[in-house]
Amino acid sequence: MSAIYENTTISIELADRLRAMPKIELHVHLEGATDAATVWELAQRNKVTPPVARLEEWQAMYAFRDFNHFLDVYGFAMQCMQTADDFTFMVERFLAEQARQNVRYCEVFLSASFMLDNFPQDEVIAVLTEGIKHGKEKYDIELRFIPDIGRQVPETRHKVLDFVLKGFEKGIFIGLGLGGMEVGFPPKLFTDVYDEARRQGLHLLAHAGETVGPESVWGAINDLKVERIGHGVRSAEDPKLLEYLAETQTPLEVCPHSNYRLGVTPLDEPHQMRALVDAGVFCTVNSDDPPMFSTDLTSEYLLFAKQGFSWDELWQLNLNAIKASFLTDEEKEAYRAEWKEFYAKVDK
Ligand code: ADE
Ligand code: ZN
Repeated sequence: MSAIYENTTISIELADRLRAMPKIELHVHLEGATDAATVWELAQRNKVTPPVARLEEWQAMYAFRDFNHFLDVYGFAMQCMQTADDFTFMVERFLAEQARQNVRYCEVFLSASFMLDNFPQDEVIAVLTEGIKHGKEKYDIELRFIPDIGRQVPETRHKVLDFVLKGFEKGIFIGLGLGGMEVGFPPKLFTDVYDEARRQGLHLLAHAGETVGPESVWGAINDLKVERIGHGVRSAEDPKLLEYLAETQTPLEVCPHSNYRLGVTPLDEPHQMRALVDAGVFCTVNSDDPPMFSTDLTSEYLLFAKQGFSWDELWQLNLNAIKASFLTDEEKEAYRAEWKEFYAKVDK
């Protein structure tokens, strides 16, 4: 059965605009932005034994049966990323891909719970600092990193917070995130480190309302007091939550291909984005783990265009990313000026 979102066509003019427009991405994982062939290369380089014998079989594993299968593949990919050079290489490939799509600024998650046993922390921080500098010089792209705690390993939370604080002092980490297995690991388990992170001035985020329903989003709001929600699409199941999100204008980082590929949104239904936007919820468009879901940021906008979102609505979602970012007011103004210049050129 073909997915409903693949059934419609859009004008070439709209597709071209979506490709060309400058963009900001607020929800993308560095490890998940590394494609299957690169992971395979890293496995050979670091002498990690893959679960299958050939690259084609490894690529075939990216057709995820469910969220747990996705986490298994993601977990193996992370085991292959072992040295500072690996991260330099991954950041370079990530930047080249973002530049190709006219992405101008990214807030990038790092799966810190799983990285910290492989690396001396100072080495990771040094490599990422260099990556930020390189992004600016070679691609004119700004990057900031947000290490996250893997929910399924709550015992790593203090170590991750220490790591975040180290990079925060140096200006490369801007916040603390929470990812991984939502089922069985509620936000409450992490209240202590979120309280401390807030005291230290970090921005606070969490994936919620992806594989668990509205109660997980309520938990992220009430127990962790997050500023933005990763996904949050299952908020559409709770009218009171929709009302709350609209009233507070709490941003959601929506990643539609991820939702379809992981079964969060049924393939034969339109994405929850329509219900969220119509309820007045503040949404942004993002790609999550792009090559793992055969997508990129442009394709996420194209998907919504194919589901009937107008140019004006898509442009508004693109503007929303500036507002929801953790940039300073001055930096936001500079991006708004750039967006305005593009808009004036195409919307005559
Ligand atoms: N880590 C990487 N991608 C994720 C997702 N979609 N949900 C939770 N954790 C993740
Ligand atoms: Zn994510």
